Amino acid sequence: MQDREKITLTGAQETMLATLYGRALDSRLPGSVLNDRAADEAVARIDYDFRKTRVQGTTAIGIAIRAKQLDIWTQQFLGANPSATVLHLACGLDTRAQRLAPGKSVRWIDLDMPDVIALRSRLLSEPEGDYRMVAASVTSDEWLSEVPADRPTVAVFEGLAMYLHEQDGKRLIQRICQRFPSGQLLFDVYGSLGIKLQKLVPAVRNAGATLHWGVDDPRSLESLHDGLTCLDALRSVDLPYLDRLPRSGRISMRMVSHIPALRDAGRLLRYLF
Ligand SMILES: C[S@@+](CC[C@H](N)C(=O)[O-])C[C@H]1O[C@@H](n2cnc3c(N)ncnc32)[C@H](O)[C@@H]1O
Repeated sequence: MQDREKITLTGAQETMLATLYGRALDSRLPGSVLNDRAADEAVARIDYDFRKTRVQGTTAIGIAIRAKQLDIWTQQFLGANPSATVLHLACGLDTRAQRLAPGKSVRWIDLDMPDVIALRSRLLSEPEGDYRMVAASVTSDEWLSEVPADRPTVAVFEGLAMYLHEQDGKRLIQRICQRFPSGQLLFDVYGSLGIKLQKLVPAVRNAGATLHWGVDDPRSLESLHDGLTCLDALRSVDLPYLDRLPRSGRISMRMVSHIPALRDAGRLLRYLF
């Protein structure tokens, strides 16, 4: 048996173990949303007390549901643009490229901070095709100027925007829109209430991470770039696959969906540029 990977990550980098664990737990269920067996295999190879994340039941399946919707949107983009570039930013240990298996005509880039990418390259096998991992902060300029600007580009970033400062998040959107001829941005956001209540999220609190940027009005981001258009803004409480939650989770989602202050705490956004 291989040695298990010791974890030295902290802060935002450590939180990707919580989302990995959510997908792993989901994959063990008979009605799994994502069937991400690779996530469970990765968990088995990591020496970490995953109970610390407090991810279980509804939270685990909720993580898988969010990932599933971003998979669906990415797949739709690739269906319409078979020769595209995918920027999977803040990829953590997410096996989106393996799940979608996009084929050789797609250029796929998985990017995260250097310590996360180092762990990723030891734990996950690389998918076939035009695939590359990049170790960088999304806020630095070099990595983006090295991506050829020749194709429609979809940037998927899950569990990232809230960790960025507002000006860095907005600059990221602008830099991507300016660099590529056309494309889409697919990402999740917290509302400002979610940012205020961040200490209630165990995975964030226990990792010592801090959330900064909340988005209350998805259309307000349209002014960041000429032609940037919000196509979808799905509340977390309105996503497909919520029927897979345990009964208690379904009931609390239904209750939250009727409380205006709470129902916008989390959203999945899709923009066209
Ligand atoms: C909640 S995890 C999400 C990981 C992955 N998307 C998932 O769903 O499993 C947050 C991720 O954001 C990454 N991250 C935070 N700030 C970043 C930055 N400035 N540049 C690149 N990655 C960043 C962290 O390293 C971590 O992998």
